[in-house]
Amino acid sequence: MVAAGGGEDRVLLALLADGAFHSGESLALRLGISRAAIWKRIGRLEELGLAVERRSGRGYRLDGGIELLERDRILVALPQATRDVLHRLEVHDVVGSTNELLLRALRNGTASPGTVVLAEQQTAGRGRRGRRWMSPFAGNIYLSLAWRFERGVAALEGLSLATGIAVVHALECSGVTGVGLKWPNDLVAGEAKLGGILIELEGELSGPVDAVIGIGLNVRMPRATAALIDQPWIDLETLVARRADRNALAAALVVSCFSMLPRFAAGGFGAFGDEWRRLDVLAGHDVTVMAGDGRALHGRADGVDPNGALRLLHAQGLQLLVSGEVSVRRSA
Ligand code: BTN
Repeated sequence: MVAAGGGEDRVLLALLADGAFHSGESLALRLGISRAAIWKRIGRLEELGLAVERRSGRGYRLDGGIELLERDRILVALPQATRDVLHRLEVHDVVGSTNELLLRALRNGTASPGTVVLAEQQTAGRGRRGRRWMSPFAGNIYLSLAWRFERGVAALEGLSLATGIAVVHALECSGVTGVGLKWPNDLVAGEAKLGGILIELEGELSGPVDAVIGIGLNVRMPRATAALIDQPWIDLETLVARRADRNALAAALVVSCFSMLPRFAAGGFGAFGDEWRRLDVLAGHDVTVMAGDGRALHGRADGVDPNGALRLLHAQGLQLLVSGEVSVRRSA
């Protein structure tokens, strides 16, 4: 385990994963260390933000249990077509940011397009517009994947929208309904944010570009982290009112993204228009858009153009926006 010190912590976590009480003595026996050492390691798990209940006479319990990401479980769930394009799958415990790690690896040649990076926790998770992405340990999904586009940056318009569609497809294949897309790349349920997408690029303006596509999905947000989020949000387990299988979800995301990417590389966003219309939560609403240049624009959202730009109708006519942050205006 990267930050929590040694593979033994993963073993300890695996023992506590069932959410039942385990005595210090039995844990010490299983790990072949002293009870005092167990006590110390429990402290390290708490430092990761995990809620460990300590009860005298009964031992330790991970409140609600936990499901750790397991590379082998994810790999085994991938069909051959996905394995054919997957270069490597990495599962980390603690990283700064999966996007940042993958970008750096592409830059120094230690990763290739087709690499997927997942982490249990991000200490410097990146959101859009320089925001921080809350990334508590083992609660949510933080996934980045790399893909090479041969035709330069201009051919990538609409990629984040197509990625949003791929994420919703993965959720639908996993039995989750009721998730929509808020332009440009928020995953929403009702008015609450379920996840987001951050695409970062490495390469030439007109030559081959490596895109790192980062997906953050709230699965089970710990209460302590929830208090720090400054916008309406929801997690998957609340939405579906049952436990989620993060390994199966991670696999579904990889399958869906790797099926969308060749399609997007070949034909751009155009082929995704119908799907966008089905999932677009803004269409027909009065909105305010904080445009990339800081201007606030008011109008009615009218879907997107064939490149994925937002169509905003207002008194002066139609305006196409390629970036920005949208909020829906409520009538008084
Ligand atoms: C947003 O602000 O809506 C985008 C959030 C994107 C978060 C994901 S989590 C995996 C990847 N690594 C990061 O540091 N950010 C993205």
